[in-house]
Amino acid sequence: MKFTIWHGHPEKQSTDCIITGIYEKNKLSKSATLLNKSTHGMLHRLAEQGDLRGKIAETYVLHHLTGSEAQRVLLVGAGKEETLSLPNYRKMIAASMQALLKTPAEKVLFCLTELPVEGLHEADKIRHAIDVMQYTLYEFDHYRSEKSPKRKLHSIEIYTTDKKHTKAAEKALAQGLAIADGVKFTRDLANQPANVCTPTWVANRAKAFAAEYSNIKMQVLDEKEMLKLGMGAMLAVAAGSEEPPKLVSLEYKGTAKKQAPIVLVGKGITFDTGGLSLKPADSMVGMKYDMCGAATVLGTMKAAAEMKLPIHLVGILALAENMPSGKAVRPEDIVTSLSGQTIEILNTDAEGRLVLCDALTYAERYKPDVVIDIATLTGAVVIALGQHATGVLSNHQPLADKLLDAGKRTHDRAWQLPLWEDYQDQLKSPFADMSNVGGRSAGTITAACFLSRFTKKYHWAHLDVAGTAAMMMGGSERYATGRPVPLLAQYLIDRS
Ligand code: BES
Ligand code: MN
Ligand code: ZN
Repeated sequence: MKFTIWHGHPEKQSTDCIITGIYEKNKLSKSATLLNKSTHGMLHRLAEQGDLRGKIAETYVLHHLTGSEAQRVLLVGAGKEETLSLPNYRKMIAASMQALLKTPAEKVLFCLTELPVEGLHEADKIRHAIDVMQYTLYEFDHYRSEKSPKRKLHSIEIYTTDKKHTKAAEKALAQGLAIADGVKFTRDLANQPANVCTPTWVANRAKAFAAEYSNIKMQVLDEKEMLKLGMGAMLAVAAGSEEPPKLVSLEYKGTAKKQAPIVLVGKGITFDTGGLSLKPADSMVGMKYDMCGAATVLGTMKAAAEMKLPIHLVGILALAENMPSGKAVRPEDIVTSLSGQTIEILNTDAEGRLVLCDALTYAERYKPDVVIDIATLTGAVVIALGQHATGVLSNHQPLADKLLDAGKRTHDRAWQLPLWEDYQDQLKSPFADMSNVGGRSAGTITAACFLSRFTKKYHWAHLDVAGTAAMMMGGSERYATGRPVPLLAQYLIDRS
């Protein structure tokens, strides 16, 4: 899709389709008012007749209006209030794309960016428009014999109301596209099935990605090297699988200045059966998405590299498959982590924290400014926050605040849970330094408590994305969302 910033007279623009807004009670947006004028009051008449009700995200396509140069006008309901909420603005954009795809339009002019939205400047509105459009247009038909028909739509012009805004609008467009590219990269990786997407396959994809950028270097640790280093927790998870684990590190240097890096660590379980603590069959569906943390690290790095952010960024992918077998780790086995702390593995299905703890200790060697891990870590976070918010836990409140704010701005929202000392007791083991599970209560918090024992040397935040990285509505409604790439990309923009 080609996106451009456009300024001019919408009513005089000859295009396949103009997308504009209409409120309830026959109130038109600015560009719709101009169209109404040039069509001698046609939009007003249709609204009076009751054809255009203006209900939020309702769409109406009008053809060949006399007095307009456009072949079609796509009106999108904007609701009652002149100033839109961000969720309603985003709903309108998604609805406009769905309606648009049912028409043969190839080139369109998108004017919804002119609508006032609560707390947003035009640049933000453009960013959200790109985000929602690219998200809605996404498809993964790699394995379908019958591919979706090729789309006619190829060019979207985004309206800016003032010529003076053009520069800011173009910057917002470039940022929006870079982040959307990152989101797409993450979704494409995550949607791959686990018989293709193995730790080795992901490592190869990371390698191909790094090769595209002269300022990204990559390194892979294999099983032998992990053994030598003493990554007993990570190796315990991989023990039951025929697929060897990989620990991938990517380093992006967007600036010549010496800077302590921001380190992102991703949980990359390419399939989570639970291991010997085997999951029931129904709970295993969706577990190909257990590498979404690693996919998010790659997508975020892509967005940062595309935006050429002047930052120092490191990505670490903890890649393994969690399988039961005669070689698999058992409940009550005790392993020694890279940090030297010993862990009694009471439940082999709590494997994410085991691969992460060694990756988090490994992150120390980069002398990080901050470390953020991203993981589909607990079912408990889905119970607590549902599919709307990512769980945030942190040992440094200013870092948590920055992440929460970045999530708010990108509508990739997150919510904080406490990381109080009081919860640490739940991890006591009679035989080792800690157990890998903390019982039924506060499952997301005790998982983060476990990780916190390996992140004492730096500022750290944990993002539990079990509810947000993939949508699981059963049946054919299953897909990766690419979250929280927008949140993290915004955090990196804010830091640069
Ligand atoms: N990958 C799962 C968490 C998960 C659950 C992600 C649902 C997405 C949707 C994780 O490895 C897991 O199995 N966690 C256990 C931990 C428990 C054994 C302490 C869980 O949440 O049940
Ligand atoms: Mn598990
Ligand atoms: Zn898992």
